[in-house]
Amino acid sequence: MKANTQRLGCTHALNAILQVDGLGAPRESLSATYFRKVFERTRRELCGLAKEGMKDIARFMVSREAARRGMTEFKRYLRVLPGTQPDHLHPPYVSSRKRAPRKPLVHLPYTISEVTGPVFDPDLAKPGSFDLTRQHSGEPLGERIVVSGRVLDESNRPVPHTLIEIWQANAAGRYLHTVDRHNAPLDPNFTGCGQVFTDELGHYRLVTIRPGEYPWRNHYNAWRPAHIHFSLFGPAFATRLVTQMYFPGDPLLQSDPIFNCVSDEKARDRLVSVFDWESTIPEQALGYRFDIVLRGREATPMEA
Ligand SMILES: [Fe+2]
Repeated sequence: MKANTQRLGCTHALNAILQVDGLGAPRESLSATYFRKVFERTRRELCGLAKEGMKDIARFMVSREAARRGMTEFKRYLRVLPGTQPDHLHPPYVSSRKRAPRKPLVHLPYTISEVTGPVFDPDLAKPGSFDLTRQHSGEPLGERIVVSGRVLDESNRPVPHTLIEIWQANAAGRYLHTVDRHNAPLDPNFTGCGQVFTDELGHYRLVTIRPGEYPWRNHYNAWRPAHIHFSLFGPAFATRLVTQMYFPGDPLLQSDPIFNCVSDEKARDRLVSVFDWESTIPEQALGYRFDIVLRGREATPMEA
């Protein structure tokens, strides 16, 4: 009984220190003083539990690491507005019929693990990985383009030093992937993967070729609009984003079930890049701007 009571106390303390998301709640933060107070109490309780052979140290280590990094204040995340993220069930997108949840979703509060990591070291990026046109001995076929923009948080502040990864089809609409059976040719000078870190102001810049449209078997004569896949974590797992960037004026957008899984038109438009004279390279490449917002009311939608 004593052990159970101690575990319960520990759990409450951990919840106080870890439960920081508060979906739908007004924005507020835990003060540094409150954090330290609860942290100290949790530490004492966990030390007591450890003596009794009860191991719940892993979560404690996570919170201690957060404290070591000076993470003594946490923002709550706002609930997304209806229609601004992909519908789980979008019947025209056939695979959503099978995988869409059939029961109400269960809310799982974020823990400190979801709001404080992961952190990627910019030194791990391969030199030149931002330029997909120079990864082989020759240049890839296709129209060279520059894709650039900023990564912002829900308060419109830049997200610095965050990893952006992209992957895409080649100019013929073919991925260098074993499950891609499209009979378009592969390009020996194009892998289709790149990565870059944002600078201190959240800016990023990639050089690549415009990907080709490709057929898929969602419905008769279905074609995906040209797109580039993006993956970002931002400052935390809670700001994780996997999405697709599209090109302005693409006639295939209106009939694409994946793009149209987002019912809110303004939110959907945030998936479409903007032609950008500023970033073009004369006689070399056209430019497209794609700003990305992680979380909040202006968030870039996830891919469906
Ligand atoms: Fe794709």
